[in-house]
Amino acid sequence: MEEFIKEIPKAELHLHIEGTFEPELMFEIASRNDIDLDYKNIEELKKAYNFSNLQEFLDIYYAGCNVLINEADFYDMTMAYLKKAKEQNILHTEIMFDPQTHTDRGISFETVINGIHKALADAEAKLGITSKLIMSFLRHLPEKAAFETLEQAKPFKKWIDAVGLDSSELGHPPSKFERVFQKAKEEGYLVVAHAGEEGPPEYITEALELLQVDRIDHGNRSLEDINVVNNLVERKMALTVCPLSNLKLQVVKDLKKHPLKKMLDKGLFVTINSDDPAYFSGYLNENYIEIQKALDLSKENIIQLADNSFKASFLSETEKNKMLEKLKEFTN
Ligand code: HPA
Ligand code: ZN
Repeated sequence: MEEFIKEIPKAELHLHIEGTFEPELMFEIASRNDIDLDYKNIEELKKAYNFSNLQEFLDIYYAGCNVLINEADFYDMTMAYLKKAKEQNILHTEIMFDPQTHTDRGISFETVINGIHKALADAEAKLGITSKLIMSFLRHLPEKAAFETLEQAKPFKKWIDAVGLDSSELGHPPSKFERVFQKAKEEGYLVVAHAGEEGPPEYITEALELLQVDRIDHGNRSLEDINVVNNLVERKMALTVCPLSNLKLQVVKDLKKHPLKKMLDKGLFVTINSDDPAYFSGYLNENYIEIQKALDLSKENIIQLADNSFKASFLSETEKNKMLEKLKEFTN
């Protein structure tokens, strides 16, 4: 089964590029930028990766970003992930980036997006991995700041496919961002939002009704309200579920208690993703492998999850069909 999981062609739809920043590369970039980290060495840093909730993780994740200064830093971080993705038989990836985490430290929007975009373009040319880019607004900041970010993105719009909503969920409902999401939609962006990771099912409803999202990130807590489940099923709304993230952030106490199988059984359109793999001890294949073992998922379940990953992507129908064809060839 493990070999089957490693080799099956798949797409990744929920990945924060800043969450792929491995300690080894973090120390290397800190050194070349002459920045001191709060930790003496890699072991000490890794020891801090022990989170009891989303906020504890975010504090460390944002601190790690402080060493990213130059375009080359963003390039190297992105390329390291793309090489890993290639090894894991990921044909297509849709990555999020958090511009405000960097612009608030005085790094220009241009520096960030140039580095990320160049890596994505090189990976497509050299590794054959296709990608989409999602610009996420930090929900702990005011809506006004998101409007400013949307404005800064204008010259680079051709490189950005969607906008998203991430960071501290509790106390920052989707409704706080209704106007900026409407503007983003008017400008032609697709839209996604984290909802129902730590936040209540009402946040999922707000993301659907007020933000008019094209996909929900996480959505685990939909199971607490049958009306929300029915609404998601009726809309065939894709959910990007992240098992190891849920375990590490204590959204679930044990992977055996993870809701993924229940979600599949209820007819929800779920996909598996890695979220912040450098912090949650596993990239996409490790997420598939661990959740398969914990929930005793069948080969058919795995095929369905890989199939869903392409169908829920923002690729064109033609591109989706090409990848689905590769999946069929593999499973036949
Ligand atoms: N949840 C919310 N915001 C985030 C995450 C996450 O798992 N990772 C990076 N930003
Ligand atoms: Zn996420």
